[in-house]
Amino acid sequence: MSTVDLEAKIPNNVGLRDNKRLMMALEKWQPAFIEWWKQLGPSDFNQNDIYLRTAVGVGQGGWAHFDYVKMPDYRWGIFLADGPADRKIHFGDNIGAPVWNEVPGEFRNRLRRLIVTQGDTEPASVEQQRMLGHSAPSLYDLRSLFQVNVEEGRHLWAMVYLLHTHFGADGRDEAEAMLERHSGDDDNPRILEAFNYPIDNWVDFFCFTTFTDRDGKYQLASLAESSFDPLARTTQFMLTEEAYHMQTGENGVGRIARRSAEIMKEGRDPAKEGAIPLPMLQRFVNHWFSASMDLFGGEDSTNAAESFAGGLKGRYREGDGIYKDPKALEQTYKLQVPTDDGKVEEKDIPLRRAMNAVLLDAYIADCSRIVARWNRDLKAQDCEFQFALPDHKFNRHQGVYSGFRFSPAGEVLDEATWTHRHGEWLPSQDDRDYVKSCMVRVTEPGKFANYIAPPSQGPNNQPIDFEYVKFH
Ligand SMILES: [Fe+2]
Ligand SMILES: [Fe+2]
Repeated sequence: MSTVDLEAKIPNNVGLRDNKRLMMALEKWQPAFIEWWKQLGPSDFNQNDIYLRTAVGVGQGGWAHFDYVKMPDYRWGIFLADGPADRKIHFGDNIGAPVWNEVPGEFRNRLRRLIVTQGDTEPASVEQQRMLGHSAPSLYDLRSLFQVNVEEGRHLWAMVYLLHTHFGADGRDEAEAMLERHSGDDDNPRILEAFNYPIDNWVDFFCFTTFTDRDGKYQLASLAESSFDPLARTTQFMLTEEAYHMQTGENGVGRIARRSAEIMKEGRDPAKEGAIPLPMLQRFVNHWFSASMDLFGGEDSTNAAESFAGGLKGRYREGDGIYKDPKALEQTYKLQVPTDDGKVEEKDIPLRRAMNAVLLDAYIADCSRIVARWNRDLKAQDCEFQFALPDHKFNRHQGVYSGFRFSPAGEVLDEATWTHRHGEWLPSQDDRDYVKSCMVRVTEPGKFANYIAPPSQGPNNQPIDFEYVKFH
């Protein structure tokens, strides 16, 4: 078991005290991070006491501590999950060999790119959401937003630790660049396109945490299988925090839907009461689900094949032994491929090349379970409306389906039909304007904006009307 040092300037369980050079380098990066937080983190709430969860260890249960804290004083720490000392590589070409504690030269660039791409999304989402606090529908939700934000900040720390520790001067440069790129910056934007748009309403926020944070879960889970042990252990621990982000999203969309169903049950129209009509909410779901699928990368990818072969990135739950062939050499994957004459054909591709598609399939199955839960709740409210997840080919801008048009049901469409009908399926400017008009700020404990139902429970067993954020 690792020893947790909570007294250090940077709380950690990686033995920073014994590595003075590394400790000094990270302590030098720390003020730049705090400065970034103050400039581009949540706007205006740095003086409020927020009831937040802080990671204080990695053991089963009791890994976190809840208390009031001002966000700039949050104890961002570096924690790696504990793992067996004799862990072996369990997929790819080098099965059975010991895992690596240092980066092998041949994989240096590839691993650095994986870490930088993942790391860049963490501060990016904080920047995207920085104005949301001003329109929070309740103190409970305001706290949830800040909980997600501070933990994304900690995830950045996790990646920066790896860069500083294992990638020398290049790694230190990359760590600095994490604070130099900014979401939506014309000259120096965030790496992935989806992280360059502001999230300025709570419908987008809850859809983002449902669908985009869930992409994050699958990326982290595939890295948690990695043969590069420090990466596997750091991403493993990030997943424990990530679960809360996805719950925030799932519950948030569910609570919005429930509120609309309640209004409809009383014979009234959500659109006339500042609540969100369910077909409109479906359009936001369509947008965020399809945009998040784009983050998985091409369905047919030699890059993915090489990351798998090298043992850098595995399949979802690869270590649980649920796949027949841990080398993935013998099998093929049936990929639906659009043809130029407007059809979709099934094509067999080598399984290794389909690793992004395999991960995406696991993600889609997970999203389907979320939608089924929303639908059960709607039924319980006697509501006839049911959400539907669009087909994986719908509205894609990356991968084999980009450049082709598909309906949410997955039928091929010509351009004219798409132009005529896409407003039925994706949020229009009118939808966005309407949603914006519903965003009212509520700061009285236990009260909620009219478009969202209260949650069923509070964090850390606190009551719903707890003062989650204190304004002085
Ligand atoms: Fe994260
Ligand atoms: Fe997250």
